[in-house]
Amino acid sequence: MAFLTFRHRFIASQIATQSGASNITLLMLHGTGGTETDLLDMGRVIAPEATLLSPRGKVLENGMSRFFRRLAEGVFDLDDLKLRTHELADFITAAADAYQFDREHMVAVGYSNGANIAASLMLSVPKMLAGAILFRPMLPLTPDVPPALADVPVLISAGQYDPIVAATQTAQLADMLRSSGAHVTQITQPSSHALTQADVEAARVWFAEQFTVPTR
Ligand code: MLT
Repeated sequence: MAFLTFRHRFIASQIATQSGASNITLLMLHGTGGTETDLLDMGRVIAPEATLLSPRGKVLENGMSRFFRRLAEGVFDLDDLKLRTHELADFITAAADAYQFDREHMVAVGYSNGANIAASLMLSVPKMLAGAILFRPMLPLTPDVPPALADVPVLISAGQYDPIVAATQTAQLADMLRSSGAHVTQITQPSSHALTQADVEAARVWFAEQFTVPTR
């Protein structure tokens, strides 16, 4: 589909249930150097019933794919970030039309650079995400207009020994989201920047609590 401007994978939900999670699409956003296939297995574990949409970041840094440019580690090119955030939002809208999924029930699952563009989407594009799971994120930008995120559930999973994201940077993002009304759950893994099995398990449990409507 030429008009879908990101290389991507789309996997429609195979399970029609009454549990409420099958109308959710997980937007899987990889970290620096990743691809659109990296997080698919994790998405299946977190929400077996969900549809998956997984784009590949278009920016290349020494051959590694990212979702926006940076000037140095943790120093972002804010003009590029804003442009790429809206470009990703346009892609999501076009993909929802093309694949006929419900854009109102999209939950982002992002790792590192993918978590940062997910946070940027939440902070900059109103009503883009119904929730987010952010692994090792930081505050990517301060939005021009205060975002309205009333009761939007967000899980932030930080690494206690992360050499890239300091605890203060995680806290800045959590504070920004909370002050915009989001319902933020913050956890810290006894680990570094890399994703761990404990991150995935915590996300699975959190997702089920937030989005699964019990069947009678
Ligand atoms: C990364 O390595 O991807 C950084 O930690 C996060 C970013 O640059 O967005």
